[in-house]
Amino acid sequence: MKILVTGGAGFIGANFIHWVLKNRDWEIINLDKLTYAGNLESLKSIEDDKRYEFAQGDICDTKLVNELMKKVDMVVHFAAESHVDRSILEPGVFVTTNVVGTQVLLQAALENNIKRFHHVSTDEVYGALDLNGGKFNEKTPYDPHSPYSASKASSDLLVRAYGDTYGLDFTITNCSNNYGPYQFPEKMIPLFVANAREDKALPIYGDGKYIRDWLYVDDHCEAIALVLEKGKAQETYCVGGDSEKSIIQMAETILENLGKPKSLMTHVKDRPGHDRRYAIDFSKIQNELGWKPRVTFEEGIEKTIKWNLDNAAWVQNILSGEYKKYYEKQYGGRL
Ligand code: NAD
Ligand code: DAU
Repeated sequence: MKILVTGGAGFIGANFIHWVLKNRDWEIINLDKLTYAGNLESLKSIEDDKRYEFAQGDICDTKLVNELMKKVDMVVHFAAESHVDRSILEPGVFVTTNVVGTQVLLQAALENNIKRFHHVSTDEVYGALDLNGGKFNEKTPYDPHSPYSASKASSDLLVRAYGDTYGLDFTITNCSNNYGPYQFPEKMIPLFVANAREDKALPIYGDGKYIRDWLYVDDHCEAIALVLEKGKAQETYCVGGDSEKSIIQMAETILENLGKPKSLMTHVKDRPGHDRRYAIDFSKIQNELGWKPRVTFEEGIEKTIKWNLDNAAWVQNILSGEYKKYYEKQYGGRL
């Protein structure tokens, strides 16, 4: 089987490509625009693999997308603008890539008789939970709060509409916060590790009592592969890590691991519209496909911190390049 992976030079896409080449006999074409978040360094070790091919381009480019779809059986769609803070500062590109780009892919999938279109989505489409109750599941109504989550919710609805209207075979996964190697250091874990390493402040938004359900990226990759292979057509599966932690708990874990003082934790202005808590009930994928997270939080966070320390050059390369200028301009006043 040959699959088109979109956004394979990003965090989860790159981990998925490594995972598939190790665990399945599938061939892969990776379509990625290489935005600020795309990094071919993450795929260096497999770039000469005969089962792997890279195509640089935009998912909004109808001609290119159609050419690539002719060569594959299925699609796994990761490409997106993925950072909530950026979506608050510049929402337009989130609509272009996440909504328009997804529609371009869906239309091409339909016209090229793609056997299955798998859409990678997020738990953020469901909104926010109270600190002390409930979990999201596949039946939770959509209630997105940020331009990012609104654009992902729109893309999910478009995918469903292509199923209902044109009979496209699709599956969707809505998963919680991933962590692991190759994550862009604007996201909380790699940013906190990089700052702690250099004795810089860890910026904690608001009161820091915001909860996320942490999912090790390899577990997410396995869930996607199982849904692609055995998931029911036109169905959604929620994927979670069974590991709820607050920002403060995450910061303390990172500081303790690096032997740094808690005084590095610095409360800063809160993210507007910050969702209080996310948590996933993953019983549907567990009951139907036998999936559950294999990596414990303790194991996963240790591996992730170690990867970030061992690959400090990979991280610093990003933090000191173009991104530094962007980060200082946008966030410089925060600390
Ligand atoms: P990322 O920002 O690390 O990577 C996104 C990739 O998409 C980059 O390689 C970028 O170059 C590429 N891209 C962006 N715009 C493109 C375009 N127009 N055409 C082609 N390529 C383009 O993102 P990530 O964290 O790996 O997330 C991947 C997917 O998983 C996204 O759809 C995101 O919404 C979803 N998701 C992420 C998480 C998480 O915790 N990171 C959780 C749930 C869902
Ligand atoms: O829940 C899934 C989502 O997880 C994905 O859909 C998104 O693509 C992904 O980016 C992630 O979104 P979050 O907003 O939860 O991730 P982020 O790492 O930006 O923030 C995690 C938590 O940490 C959140 O409560 C905000 C807080 N935070 C973040 C940063 C970057 C801080 O307190 N300080 C920071 O500097």
